[in-house]
Amino acid sequence: MTATKGLEGIVATQSAISSIIDDTLTYVGYDIDDLADNASFEEVVYLLWHQRLPKADELAELKQQLADNMSVPQPVLDHFKNYPISEVHPMAALRTAISLLGLYDENAEDMSDEANYEKAIKLQAKVATIVTAFSRIRKGLEPVAPKKEFGYAANFLYMLTGEVPEEVAIEAFDKALVLHADHELNASTFTARVCVATLSDMYSGITAAIGALKGPLHGGANEQVMKMLMEIGDEENVESYIKEKLANRERIMGFGHRVYRKGDPRAKHLRKMSKKLTALRGEEKWYNMSEKIEAIVTGEKNIPPNVDFYSASVYHSLDIDHDLFTPIFAVSRISGWAAHILEQYANNRLIRPRAEYTGPNMQKYVPINER
Ligand code: ACO
Repeated sequence: MTATKGLEGIVATQSAISSIIDDTLTYVGYDIDDLADNASFEEVVYLLWHQRLPKADELAELKQQLADNMSVPQPVLDHFKNYPISEVHPMAALRTAISLLGLYDENAEDMSDEANYEKAIKLQAKVATIVTAFSRIRKGLEPVAPKKEFGYAANFLYMLTGEVPEEVAIEAFDKALVLHADHELNASTFTARVCVATLSDMYSGITAAIGALKGPLHGGANEQVMKMLMEIGDEENVESYIKEKLANRERIMGFGHRVYRKGDPRAKHLRKMSKKLTALRGEEKWYNMSEKIEAIVTGEKNIPPNVDFYSASVYHSLDIDHDLFTPIFAVSRISGWAAHILEQYANNRLIRPRAEYTGPNMQKYVPINER
């Protein structure tokens, strides 16, 4: 038995949800470029959960179900007020809140198809409320209740700020949600599938996935990109900062990908959005700096940007706190995780690979006083 470090190139499951072939990403066979330009996030959620696009009445029904399920049990929100330390990362708060949410769902352990689909709706609806409520509570503000007449993206921004969002912000946020919804067998999706393949419940699978997304090599990179941009501070510092990092063999956050070689097809949409939004806010410097970083990293290392690179300046331009960038990734990706969990349940087998043993052999037990 020989291990492949990081499971590179290993095909670990079959899936009909999304695919990455020759640097093209599709959800159920629809090119991400087509979806990013034309579909709403709710349509994409339906697509991932049903493997087909919704008809108008089906989309209306899903929107209604999401709007109806956005409220979160008060104790889940109250627990945000009782943390032992003051600077809890919102991803840690989200991971705990999703686990806690499971305790308030009397059908959490019901493994019927209907109950699992309902859990997917509840989780997708409530995650927006959880992230926005946490953001407000830690600032000493009251959570804002969603508006039933708003779509998912508008409601998220509304619950975050308490103000009706501008159309341009809704459009950008909705597109960002579409772009992050699913991504084949990425680390967090694999985590979710491994967890539920033991026939554990959906709350456990999503909680585990959030833990995996949190790391800076995966979803946590978008927050680190903004941290880097703030550290660089100005366009004129870009070259020396990036070149020094590369010389020290440090990783530039938001670049590189296990699966893409020519580039991440999602990045170009976010680049375009970043250019437009930073200009609208009169803060072009974030886009200009990002473009310069991209030129250096691709020029020196031939490593293209991934989805996390330009999403940082997009979310910053939407006035979103930097440590909420990764929770927002989770808000979108929960749709993909739920789709994969439902697919795993539908054709389950325990996921249990092997390890190549590299430790000592033929050891004899030595009594403690002789060691
Ligand atoms: N900056 C500089 N060098 C890099 C970067 C980077 N961002 N990414 C990869 N490399 C280099 C590595 O140093 C390595 O070089 P070496 O062979 O000379 O040592 C080579 O490219 C291969 O890197 P690996 O780590 O083996 O590639 P892997 O497929 O395991 O990693 C990963 C992929 C984790 C995404 C990596 O590119 C990385 O760390 N990127 C930065 C973090 C990031 O942006 N993560 C988000 C990914 S997208 C997502 O999950 C949503």
